[in-house]
Amino acid sequence: MADEILRVEDLSVSYGKGNMISGVNFTVTKGEIVCFLGESGCGKSTLLKAIMNIPELETVITKGKIIFEGKDITSYSDKEIRSMAGKNIGMVLQHLGGAFNPLRTFEAQFKEALYSHDMEYDFEKVKETFAQLNLPDAERIIKSRPYEMSGGMIQRIAIAMTMILGPELLLCDEPTSALDVTTQKMAMEQLMNIRELLNTTILLVTHNPGIPSMMADKVGVMYAGHLVEYGKTHQVLHSPAHPYTKALIGAIPTFDFKLPKGLEGQPPLNGADMEKCAFSERCPICKEGHCICGNNPYTLKEVCKDHCATCFKRD
Ligand SMILES: Nc1ncnc2c1ncn2[C@@H]1O[C@H](COP(=O)(O)OP(=O)(O)O)[C@@H](O)[C@H]1O
Ligand SMILES: [Mg+2]
Repeated sequence: MADEILRVEDLSVSYGKGNMISGVNFTVTKGEIVCFLGESGCGKSTLLKAIMNIPELETVITKGKIIFEGKDITSYSDKEIRSMAGKNIGMVLQHLGGAFNPLRTFEAQFKEALYSHDMEYDFEKVKETFAQLNLPDAERIIKSRPYEMSGGMIQRIAIAMTMILGPELLLCDEPTSALDVTTQKMAMEQLMNIRELLNTTILLVTHNPGIPSMMADKVGVMYAGHLVEYGKTHQVLHSPAHPYTKALIGAIPTFDFKLPKGLEGQPPLNGADMEKCAFSERCPICKEGHCICGNNPYTLKEVCKDHCATCFKRD
């Protein structure tokens, strides 16, 4: 497809022993925002780390391919991967403060990041980007050091640096979970701004179920190392197909003071390498003895156009 930017094909990833994610398939169109949901430990961070794939992240791709802008980046050398990191594929981590050394000026750190990709440092560009993110007084900020700043400011400065490096694909791993609700909202608006201004494609992991409905074009649901559902946001959130997605969405607290229907138990730790369905122990349909995934629990099947799931009941 002409405007496809990322294709993940049958991807399995390990940290040395056993796979943590397995058989993941999905595609992303340029300029889309895709949110990944799922309980802790289901492999969302591992998926983003494997796409970034710099050695420090410790992910080992054991199977499958990642095609970025038409090229199979799984065959790239460490040197080639590093030259793309930041410039073509950027990553914003949960603790954004960690993006900077607390004791060195932002100016020194912006220069270092740009020079490492053979890019020029241009203060006018910094000033313009800061203004887009509501950061006044660029002259003062750029000469200050992270330890002098609030978390919300550092976060916006980290986003500014990302914008200046201008990656085509931005991976955000729970970028807002450490922030209060107001700052979270601002950060999400800034990500949407980046997409508007630069047509950046964004993959976002979040625990806040309000976020995908606010900004995502597509939603992916991970369970025990598998991508179990993937599709257009309104379809996945309003007509979830997989029993896990249904339970996950059913567990979202609502404002009507009813207790959410809890999801009992926990995902299995070795789910990625399991042959039988890793959700079967918790699955309400399996418990009733009407298992529908049978011998083929992990192949995504079309529910309807732009919406697929590994297991679902046809009405
Ligand atoms: N650096 C690592 N080394 C070994 N195991 C890891 C590492 N990072 C994550 N894991 C394991 O991989 C599994 C998936 O974790 P993760 O991708 O962080 O899930 P999520 O982001 O969905 O919470 C977990 O069992 C976790 O303990
Ligand atoms: Mg995570």
